[in-house]
Amino acid sequence: MMFTPPLVGKALELACKKNFQNSCIPEVGQLLRVLVAGAKPGVIAEIGTGCGVSSAWMLNGLQPYHQFVSVEKDSGLHQAVLELFVSEARANFILGDWRELLKQQPFQLVFVDVGNAKDDGSNAVIEATAIGGLIILDDFTPLHLRKEQTDERREQWFSNRQLIVTEILTTLEASALLAVRVS
Ligand SMILES: C[S@@+](CC[C@H](N)C(=O)[O-])C[C@H]1O[C@@H](n2cnc3c(N)ncnc32)[C@H](O)[C@@H]1O
Repeated sequence: MMFTPPLVGKALELACKKNFQNSCIPEVGQLLRVLVAGAKPGVIAEIGTGCGVSSAWMLNGLQPYHQFVSVEKDSGLHQAVLELFVSEARANFILGDWRELLKQQPFQLVFVDVGNAKDDGSNAVIEATAIGGLIILDDFTPLHLRKEQTDERREQWFSNRQLIVTEILTTLEASALLAVRVS
């Protein structure tokens, strides 16, 4: 049976209230939680807070030697998340464009959940990640379900020589990329 931390439940309620459809699925949340728990000491970052669902999963895996920071450009969402996470002293939610978050580098782990940061901004994300740090991107379509043979976003990450990358199924219809920066 899948464990759902109480804060994740509250963030899901917020997403429901705001009719926000872009929160991560529970399988990705579980994955993030475990990966955060295993991350090296330092900054754990999130690009795209949304209603805080993935933040809540990540915070549940956070260790005392981690700092968590997440960025969101929508002021309404940012304010609602601030109120929801008011008792989470370890969480730092920033309002602004995702590039603001780069000031907090180096990241030991970063969940990239804004399209621009996955595409044009990928080099900036990689440069902000510590050597040995982990980058996670979800919302990919697994190879066997893909209509087009090429997926530029996926290829861009896989072909980057600074990274070792793998793709894992999160459900039968969805996949995520896990990348470790090695140089
Ligand atoms: C996929 S949703 C995030 C969902 C969240 N990570 C979760 O799984 O619960 C992407 C979020 O990024 C925000 N966003 C879009 N462009 C952005 C930008 N340039 N800078 C910061 N946030 C941005 C959107 O407003 C949206 O809330």
